[in-house]
Amino acid sequence: MTDVNSVEDSRIYQDDDLIRSLVAHYHSPLYVFDAAAIRANCRKVKDAVPYAHLHIRYACKALSLQAVLKIMLDEGMWIDASSINEVHRALIAGFTPEQIYYTGEGATLSVYRDLVARDVLVNCTSIDQIHLLGQAGGTRCSIRINPGEGHGANTQTNTGGPSSKHGIYFDQLDAAKAAAAQYGIRITAIHSHIGSGTDLGHWLRIKDKTLDFARGFPDLDTVNLGGGLPVVYNKTNDQPMPIREWGAALTQSMQEFSAEMGRDIELQLEPGRFLVANAGVLLAEAQAVKSTTNPDGSEGFNFVIVNTGLNHNIRPALYGSYHPIRFIAPNRETRNAPREYVIAGYLCESGDVFTVDADGNLRPRVMDGIKVGDIMVMAGVGAYVHALKSEYNSMNLPASVMIMEDGTTRMIERRGTLEDIMRREVEVYQDENPPAV
Ligand code: LLP
Repeated sequence: MTDVNSVEDSRIYQDDDLIRSLVAHYHSPLYVFDAAAIRANCRKVKDAVPYAHLHIRYACKALSLQAVLKIMLDEGMWIDASSINEVHRALIAGFTPEQIYYTGEGATLSVYRDLVARDVLVNCTSIDQIHLLGQAGGTRCSIRINPGEGHGANTQTNTGGPSSKHGIYFDQLDAAKAAAAQYGIRITAIHSHIGSGTDLGHWLRIKDKTLDFARGFPDLDTVNLGGGLPVVYNKTNDQPMPIREWGAALTQSMQEFSAEMGRDIELQLEPGRFLVANAGVLLAEAQAVKSTTNPDGSEGFNFVIVNTGLNHNIRPALYGSYHPIRFIAPNRETRNAPREYVIAGYLCESGDVFTVDADGNLRPRVMDGIKVGDIMVMAGVGAYVHALKSEYNSMNLPASVMIMEDGTTRMIERRGTLEDIMRREVEVYQDENPPAV
């Protein structure tokens, strides 16, 4: 088992026969998840960090389907929730309140009362939230510290430093302590999460900074160092995280820190992407192949239009994220005559293109000749893809299936319908003679 989570190497991306049979049976577009891959990812992180007092929380914003949460529960993961509904999704999946931790930049008194009544630990991300928790009757909390620097795969996923809204800035910790004292709230945990797709150097430096801050909290029993473990989406550009080196460094620091504090301090981590990114693919079909010509008569671009789009994976349009894409013929024919293709979605939106860079420039990829009806397979869609989907253009949401450990396939979420799309609409205008539809 390799430690490098390269999305391109995932079984469900590579297995042509499986992909063909899934599209024949369930049609496309279709999300496919791999239970065995999720379990293997959990074990990689657990094995990498031998520290005795460890709990790994799954940041369930990455992919919050019940079928996934149940695997996490079975693997001994705890939960990092970012909304009250994520808390409830986790409770429904079978997690206990003690296993759930709540970090949200937004908060209301009623949400905090619900969390306090259930004894879910709240991670306060502002001093105002500490006041709110006091009003809700909270007696303990965690605080999220912005350590003054951050690092992520791109600026949108960097969550530390002066330009980040996240957490309580590190120079205001005395004010945070004073606010907690006002309500008799004990600060039992310190948290930092500086970004998504953070490299080893930044990770370890922030670990040291966070432990420095932690020394100033006498009631401390837990240090939560957040998530952010990167995965390899693009083998040419992305650096894999040496997670054994990372885990060994965390373990050593925590052992020293516990010895210094004279008691066992629990380490918590909350990866999202690393646990699921390589465990999902999106299947679709080529619906049209067309080309453009430049004003000087030279060849423009070859576009392949597929029956999915930024409504089902917004990451390329939002961040310029790279997702490996391949096409296979539905009938085992081989394809040749490679050309450069731009892979575009079916929405009425020019930015609905999967092969773009961070500035939105088209980045064609060389692929064997593509024909209408060929199956598109997109890798690395386990994290923040299904979770960010939308019903834009009133397109139905795809179904989701999971390949189980025994090789069987289960539908875990049915395809969306027009009824789903309109389900929350309220009639405000009633025509006496509505037209027949
Ligand atoms: N903890 C906190 C407080 C977080 O905000 C996040 C992610 C995580 C843990 C998990 O981070 P991970 O291990 O997954 O990197 N939509 C973006 C990613 C946004 C991440 C939001 N917070 C994307 O598609 O890349």
